[in-house]
Amino acid sequence: MCGIVGYIGFKEAVPILLEGMEKLEYRGYDSAGVVFPEEGRLTLIKRAGRLNSLKEKLNGRSYAANIGIGHTRWATHGKPTDSNAHPHTDCTGHFAVVHNGIIENYINLRDWLQLNGHTFRSQTDTEVLPHLIEHYYNGDLVDTVLRVVSKLEGSFAMAVVSSHEPDKVVAVRQDSPLVVGLGDGEYLLASDIPALLKHTRNTYILNDGEIAVLEAGRVWVMDRNGNEVDKEVLDVKWEAEQAEKGGYEHFMLKEIHEQPQALRDTLSGRISTDGVNVILDEVKITPEKIKGLKKIFITACGTAYHAGLVGKHIIEKLARLPVEVDIASEFRYRHPIIESDSLVLVISQSGETADTLAAMREAKRQGARVIAVTNVVGSSVSREADDLIYTWAGPEIAVASTKAYTTQLVAMYLFALYLADVRGTVKSEEIQEILLGMKKLAAKAQSILDNTVVVKDFAQEFACSTDVFFIGRGLDYAVAMEGSLKLKEISYIHAEAYAAGELKHGTLALIEDKMPVVALATQEGLFDKMVSNIQEVNARGAAVVALAMDGLKEVERVAGKVIYIPNTHPVLAPVLTVIPLQLLAYHTAVARGCDVDKPRNLAKSVTVE
Ligand code: G6P
Repeated sequence: MCGIVGYIGFKEAVPILLEGMEKLEYRGYDSAGVVFPEEGRLTLIKRAGRLNSLKEKLNGRSYAANIGIGHTRWATHGKPTDSNAHPHTDCTGHFAVVHNGIIENYINLRDWLQLNGHTFRSQTDTEVLPHLIEHYYNGDLVDTVLRVVSKLEGSFAMAVVSSHEPDKVVAVRQDSPLVVGLGDGEYLLASDIPALLKHTRNTYILNDGEIAVLEAGRVWVMDRNGNEVDKEVLDVKWEAEQAEKGGYEHFMLKEIHEQPQALRDTLSGRISTDGVNVILDEVKITPEKIKGLKKIFITACGTAYHAGLVGKHIIEKLARLPVEVDIASEFRYRHPIIESDSLVLVISQSGETADTLAAMREAKRQGARVIAVTNVVGSSVSREADDLIYTWAGPEIAVASTKAYTTQLVAMYLFALYLADVRGTVKSEEIQEILLGMKKLAAKAQSILDNTVVVKDFAQEFACSTDVFFIGRGLDYAVAMEGSLKLKEISYIHAEAYAAGELKHGTLALIEDKMPVVALATQEGLFDKMVSNIQEVNARGAAVVALAMDGLKEVERVAGKVIYIPNTHPVLAPVLTVIPLQLLAYHTAVARGCDVDKPRNLAKSVTVE
């Protein structure tokens, strides 16, 4: 995600930038830096590590500059090192940029800039920005930034300073957040409101395509054509703690609502512009090796393991490769037989889970090639894996994982389609259809989040339960397991997930009058069978809440309560189906007065076996 700050006014800029960056550390904390104009040049100070390590480098020194920009990073392109830390500068050192988001066409831009004599010092996508500004600079920074922005694809928020024009900060927003704080004789810039609150509550919330110019004594905003925009001043009413959670009561709810953006970011640059192919630059396995694969092992813990279960279904369906999924703490003790034509895929949000790391090391010891899906660049898993697929969900703070899961699912789809394409196991029309469906997932997730009243009502009823069962078939069974985990881990209600067809072999004996059963029925081919299973639990008095795709009205005949999810390709349904289940768990836990973000006995990252 990354956090951006900027300041221009009459006070020393550096301490204000550092305070703002501290408030934005929740957006990323693997490196930090500041830059400001000083005596005809730019002074750049940056360092890998948390903000404190930048502060150590600054060593309490004071700088006279009343203007500057700063950045706290969550690595996407390039490891968390000093040279990859922001701000980034051009060849002359006269232009500096901080950036949040992804420049999708950075490889083409970098190649072109290198041909034109520019030298790059980092592995980031961001570094193309200062070089482009240097290249096109015509004596007018605002005009040059407008020109550079027209050449960029992707989502970004950025701020620019230059020693040629040391009296201004130019900032741009395109699909990544950016707000301007309007102080008394001073202006601030930040990725999020908490960084401004100490100084002002009056803000301009920038819209996509808008460019703000902060100068001493005035601030003005333009559209992408350079026409001045009349902005409305928003008076922020939030208290500081509320603001850190984006106005949500808990980080978990905030993260549930961040899923549309996280899905967009994880897909960014990974589907070719014509919508035909998957682009997975970080996966270096040769096509020959992919064609020769005989088996895939997936291993992970908790929610990541559940993402692996979905991965098994879709890799087997699309790439026609057998997949075994193991809980990481079980994997190495069952003495798995890993042949040279097997591939091991590990999934870990944090990249630091001890059991997952141990499983990965065992796989490597047996000579396997390991591909990792992780959210943290520079984590142990990312350093030790042979190939990587990053989920760009940004930092996840709540213990109960939400946006990491849905982005892990997206990583599974991308990988399965990538394999299927190389192996020729799916017609290109179907690949295109699924890719098109993936592009629409963010908007469909948003539509679920815009309409949560029904789920909240059901949660009130769930709050009094002692047991809840989740049932489903195929992909729905895998999602049922995640729904059940969410409920038990934050509400402490006993919850179990069962393959619906298996009920009659034992579990049905547990169904009593008024017992809540959540029945997932999104899979068209299995729908009729699910209806029969719902009838089985109905007959024993269960209170059924069903989840079905829009239009499958027949479900209302057997389920008293139904949550509809937007229509999508059946293999993609898990990404949408899980969202109401996350919300159900969240609102149930809130109704029971539980500590949602820090459930008892649990930790976000379990680094012991
Ligand atoms: C802990 C967390 C879970 C998470 C699991 C695996 O148990 O509470 O939310 O799914 O670890 O974490 P990882 O970082 O490896 O995905």
